[in-house]
Amino acid sequence: MSSVSIRNLQISFGALNVLETLDLEVQEGEFIVLLGPSGCGKSTLLNAIAGLLDITEGQIWIDGRNVTWAEPHERGIGMVFQSYALYPRLTVEGNLSFGLKMSGMPKAEIARRVLEAARILQLEHLLQRQPAQLSGGQRQRVAIGRALVRNAKVLLFDEPLSNLDAKLRTELRVEIKRLHKSLGSTMIFVTHDQVEALTLADRVAVMHKGVIQQLATSKEIYQRPINRFVAGFVGSPQMNFLPGTLVRRENATCFRLRDGSEVNLTGYVFSRPFADGQAATLGIRPEQALLRPSEHQHPDRLEAVFTIEEPMGPDTLLWGTLAGESFSVRISSDQTPVIGAKTDLYVNMAQASLFDEAGDRL
Ligand SMILES: Nc1ncnc2c1ncn2[C@@H]1O[C@H](COP(=O)(O)OP(=O)(O)OP(=O)(O)O)[C@@H](O)[C@H]1O
Ligand SMILES: [Mg+2]
Repeated sequence: MSSVSIRNLQISFGALNVLETLDLEVQEGEFIVLLGPSGCGKSTLLNAIAGLLDITEGQIWIDGRNVTWAEPHERGIGMVFQSYALYPRLTVEGNLSFGLKMSGMPKAEIARRVLEAARILQLEHLLQRQPAQLSGGQRQRVAIGRALVRNAKVLLFDEPLSNLDAKLRTELRVEIKRLHKSLGSTMIFVTHDQVEALTLADRVAVMHKGVIQQLATSKEIYQRPINRFVAGFVGSPQMNFLPGTLVRRENATCFRLRDGSEVNLTGYVFSRPFADGQAATLGIRPEQALLRPSEHQHPDRLEAVFTIEEPMGPDTLLWGTLAGESFSVRISSDQTPVIGAKTDLYVNMAQASLFDEAGDRL
C-alpha cells in the first residue's frame, strides 16, 4: 500500500493554467474519486501523478518518495484508461503478460502473476481469446488486469467505465469496489459520473476549473456541500435553489423568499456568522421536501404548484414552481400528488443548505 501526496501542483499548457496550486493527500489504501465536469483538469491531474506529463510547479510524492521527476515505470503505479488499448493480435494472456515480458521478468513469475490477475478478474476461461472475441466489459477487465500484473501499489483509473452500456457499468463498478476491498491498494479514479463517484469513493474530490472545491466522504459531499457548485453538481435532479434574504427575529432566524413568504430556519446549523437582511440562497434537495410533515422533526412549510409528474418506478418526480423558482420534489410512488393546485411542502431545515451571495455555504 502507498500514500500519494500532491503538493502545490501547478500545470499550464502554454498560457492556459489548468491546475493552480493544487494540494491533495491520499491515504494508504484509500479510494479517491476525482469528480468534475468535462475540462476541469481531472485527467491532467491523473496524468501528472502517472508521470505522463511535465508539471510546471510543485511536487508529487508516492509512498514517501519524491517522484516528481521519476519516469512513469519507476513510480509503482498502474493506469487504466477509458479506451482499453489492447493489442488486437495478442490473446488475453498475451496482453496481460506483454509488459512483464518487455521488462525481462522470469517466465514462471509472469505466468504466476497472469493467472492471479485472471483469477481476480474472472478472466481464466478467456485467456486464449483475442480482444475482438470479448465483450466490452471483458475487454475493460483485461485492461485492469494489465495494471494488476504489475503489482502496482497505486492504481489510477481514467473514466474506465464510460465506454460500457449502463448495465455493464453497474456490474463493473461493483467489481472495482470488490477489487479495492480485496487488494487494499490505493486507488485514484476519475469520472464525471456522480453515481460512480458517490458509490465507489472513500472520499470524493469535486473539481471545478482546476480547483478541488471539496474533498470529503460521499455523505458529507451530498449532505453538506461546501458551495453552490458542489451542491448543484452532485445530486439528480439537482438541488433546488431559492433566492431570498436572512431575517433575524427575536427568537428565530427566518428566510424570506422573493414572493415575501417566510420560513423558519429552525434546526439549521450555520457554519459562520451572518447579517440580518443578508442576501442568501436556500438549497433544498428534491427528497428533502415532503408532502406530509414528519412527526419527530421541526418541518417548515412552503407552498408550491406542480405541473408535471414523472413516475420513476419506486418514486415519482414532481416538477413545478415555488416562489417563482422552478422546483422539483421526489415523492414515494404510493403518494398521490396534486397537479395544478397549491400544495404544502414540509422541509426539515436541519437538512437544507444555505449559501451566501458568493455561493459559499453559510
Ligand atoms: N496537451 C494539452 N495542451 C493544451 N491544453 C490541454 C492539453 N491537455 C488538456 N488541455 C486542456 O486542459 C483542460 C483540462 O483538461 P483535462 O483533460 O484534464 O480535463 P478533464 O477534466 O479530464 O475532462 P474530461 O472529463 O472531458 O476528460 C482542458 O481545458 C483541456 O482543453
Ligand atoms: Mg479526462
